[in-house]
Amino acid sequence: MSNLITRTANNVMDWVNERAPGMMPMYRKHMTEYYAPKNFNFWYYMGSLAMLVLVNQIVTGIFLTMHYKPSAAEAFSSVEYIMRDIEWGWLIRYMHSTGASLFFIVVYLHMFRGLMYGSYQKPRELVWILGMLIYLVLMAEAFLGYVLPWGQMSFWGAKVIISLFGAIPVIGNGLVEWIMGDYLPSDATLNRFFALHVIALPLVLLLLVVLHLGALHEVGSNNPDGVDIKKGPKGNRWDATKPTDGIPFHPYYTVKDLVGVGFFLMIAAFVIFFAPAFGGWFLEHDNFTEANRLVTPEHIKPVWYYTPYYAMLRVVPHKLSGVLVMFGAIAILFLVPWLDRCKVKSYRYRGLMSKVLLGLFAVSFVWLGKIGAGPGTDPVETIIGRVLTFFYFAFFITMPLWTKLDATKPVPERVTTHD
Ligand code: HEM
Repeated sequence: MSNLITRTANNVMDWVNERAPGMMPMYRKHMTEYYAPKNFNFWYYMGSLAMLVLVNQIVTGIFLTMHYKPSAAEAFSSVEYIMRDIEWGWLIRYMHSTGASLFFIVVYLHMFRGLMYGSYQKPRELVWILGMLIYLVLMAEAFLGYVLPWGQMSFWGAKVIISLFGAIPVIGNGLVEWIMGDYLPSDATLNRFFALHVIALPLVLLLLVVLHLGALHEVGSNNPDGVDIKKGPKGNRWDATKPTDGIPFHPYYTVKDLVGVGFFLMIAAFVIFFAPAFGGWFLEHDNFTEANRLVTPEHIKPVWYYTPYYAMLRVVPHKLSGVLVMFGAIAILFLVPWLDRCKVKSYRYRGLMSKVLLGLFAVSFVWLGKIGAGPGTDPVETIIGRVLTFFYFAFFITMPLWTKLDATKPVPERVTTHD
């Protein structure tokens, strides 16, 4: 029986190869002959997990679209209908809403890994830039999606964020009206956001992810030691008789990544089944009330993944400056490959100053997130927010200095493992 299956599979493969001879080399280039460093650790699970969540968002999104109604009159009740009357509708919806937050958790860890191991340094600048474009599109995609259930926070969140464009001199007000298609978020806004959320941005995201991986596979993966595996005795080629630094992505990392997927699915299932709103962090309480343009919620705040930037916007007293600081905070991340002048990649082999600064940077980003999620009325917190915002920018602006001045440790010739 198994013989028959193998023979049939081989025949099908031969048939395809004869007609599309370019496909097998492509599979080999990206899977069985893609040599990845053998010392990948926990942080290297995040890329494959991000792809898993992307697929989850697309598949659950398709099913939600079958029952969702993109009109101001029906959107809220169509979501309630999905939750109560459609079979398994609650599961599909919670998989999608939880998926959004998990996407950002995974992507933030993925980005932090890049910072720790200097994965953005030459020759991977393009991988980083494409990653940053993914991050931007992902933020836009999540914002548009959040408006769709047409709850109170959908409406007021959309109003606050779109109104930010009003701070731009001369064209600001016209731009706000153009984005909304009205003077307030309305049916027209919801329709266009739906179109962008379900088709335009997912297509862009998919394309960017393909380019991101394409760019990575041209130069090869970095690793926790930040050393080039091509310098090993066999280049980066696999040779079963000699210890090499690179191992074929398939089957070694496909199997390893499956372990990460298993753990990740357990965490995801726990949230989906037991805490889908996650105490108001993943689904805000105000969004369980239908949008009402005459009633403003007590605290308008975005979902947690935007709150570090939202805090920066709020602690700057002048509106246009606040908007510039907020967008500047994202824009500056694009420049990291050129701001970092250190001659070693990984922070493992950098000095104490670099490690402390990177640690403080992570702490201030999280702390800003906490401030942005609060009501924004505490004056002490506002001062702290200003200090943290200052540190955020100082970290990057002075990066060329401290990355050059700080001591480094000798980098090993070959990747290190704990065996
Ligand atoms: C949808 C979102 C994303 C997906 C699906 C994705 C996917 C991947 C995958 C599969 C890898 C190879 C495995 C790994 O190194 O973990 C990778 C590597 C990488 N990604 Fe992403 N990525 C995403 C977003 C980002 C973002 C936002 C950034 C940074 C701005 C980024 C920067 C990088 C870098 C620098 C590498 C190379 C890491 C190394 O070789 O050490 N990615 N990505």
